[in-house]
Amino acid sequence: MARGILHSMSNSAKLIFDDKEIELPVTVGSEAETGIDISKLRSQTGAITLDPSFANTGACESAITYIDGEQGILRYRGYDIEELAANASFPEVCFLLIYGRLPTAEERVDFRRRLTRHSLVHEDMKLLFEGLPSTAHPMVTLSAMIASLSAYYPDDETPEEIDQNIIRLLAKAKTLAAFAYKKSIGQPFMYPQNDRTYIENFQLMMFSVPCEPYEVNQVVRRALNKLMILHADHEQNCSTTTVRTVGSSGANLFSSISSGISALWGPLHGGANQAVIEMLEMIQNDGANYQKYVDMTKSKDSDFKLMGFGHRVYKNFDPRARILKEAADEVLESLGVDDPLLDIAKRLEEVALADPYFIERKLYPNVDFYSGVLYRAMGIPTNMFTVMFALGRLPGWIAHWLEQRDAPGTRISRPRQIYTGETVRDWVPLDKRAEGIPGGLNHEYQMGLPDDN
Ligand code: SDX
Repeated sequence: MARGILHSMSNSAKLIFDDKEIELPVTVGSEAETGIDISKLRSQTGAITLDPSFANTGACESAITYIDGEQGILRYRGYDIEELAANASFPEVCFLLIYGRLPTAEERVDFRRRLTRHSLVHEDMKLLFEGLPSTAHPMVTLSAMIASLSAYYPDDETPEEIDQNIIRLLAKAKTLAAFAYKKSIGQPFMYPQNDRTYIENFQLMMFSVPCEPYEVNQVVRRALNKLMILHADHEQNCSTTTVRTVGSSGANLFSSISSGISALWGPLHGGANQAVIEMLEMIQNDGANYQKYVDMTKSKDSDFKLMGFGHRVYKNFDPRARILKEAADEVLESLGVDDPLLDIAKRLEEVALADPYFIERKLYPNVDFYSGVLYRAMGIPTNMFTVMFALGRLPGWIAHWLEQRDAPGTRISRPRQIYTGETVRDWVPLDKRAEGIPGGLNHEYQMGLPDDN
């Protein structure tokens, strides 16, 4: 696609509202996206816009990631995702997203050295793990541990302190994720080794045990590298918007990222990769009756959704899903894994994409549809899939937190609303309150309570 700014038809929009006609400035981005700037709307008209899930609302201008949902384009700082997935290392992509360019050879070595040297976590953090039940979902553990890093590294004022915390976060998150996994299976924590690469260290901490030597599987290493790159950023998605919103109050990096981890956990977002495998297992156990589940999706009486399908932005295909579908074939063959769930996923995609319901709504497989099959083949358990998504998304969250922090004129995020509740009414004394709680009181708690006043 030719680059450069296509001059929009006009650089302003006219709004006629009641007896007022106002002109609103139009912002045109480097890929010719246009945004009508409504920052003066309320002061000029008294009205606000209403866009509950922000589907038509731009929250910011950003130079980090570009998505064209119609063309299936995804670029990090101008580089196509296909090129990055084929050629880059995940640490290189972290550097690219956070600092805005690919590292020189010297910077690449220095960045990796810094990431290696900060992989250890404070020994006291093991006590935090002891306080959690082994049944804790690894996402709650990861979110809690990342937030607690601000207790160990409270200095985050100067650019140098912030940069050091960025390195600490990228380096320690994979250690904490592996510790969460080991905690969940009752195995001892394995410590990072300074002679390993970023991904190899994660493999070692996840899959090795003290009682036997561990050899890094290079097929898994390459596949993990690709998976992390594909998840590294995706502009203003739910969890990144959460990170930017929390960061806009001045909250520190670790707390902001921890909130992003929590947002990602939802099954409509990053939690979908776990939900996809659970859905495929359900279909497998139900005689691979694809049409039944496609029909359930279409029925107004069922709230069943095909997890891993659909996207707010992609309306043709998710380029990441295409890359992952291809990678799944290659990796499973290399590992000698024959997972029936991959065949079920492919067949389900065929059946769904031939169905008018999906065609009309432009529902295609998204990044979460095939990723779980790959994680399974590598021996990563289902409840760790969204943790893998979070580890991949870390550089994107960090880049957006930093971009917002450094953007001139940044203000705290504070949307408005349209109130639809009761209008003003008078106080009612206790003995005059005729209405009870619908369905009556819950008598389980009806014990003699002292009155408050
Ligand atoms: C991610 O935003 C990002 O960039 C996210 C992400 C990232 O990298 O950060 O790409 C990662 O979160 C991917 C999405 C993972 N989630 C899922 O796979 C869960 C299943 N998908 C859906 O819940 C849904 O498609 C969403 C949440 C992804 C998008 O929701 P939207 O944009 O609000 O769309 P919608 O729910 O309004 O759906 C529009 C129509 C509806 O039908 P009608 O009411 O018009 O009749 O499409 C239907 C929906 O019922 N629909 C689905 C469907 N997804 C949408 N029907 C069946 N199965 C589905 N999966």
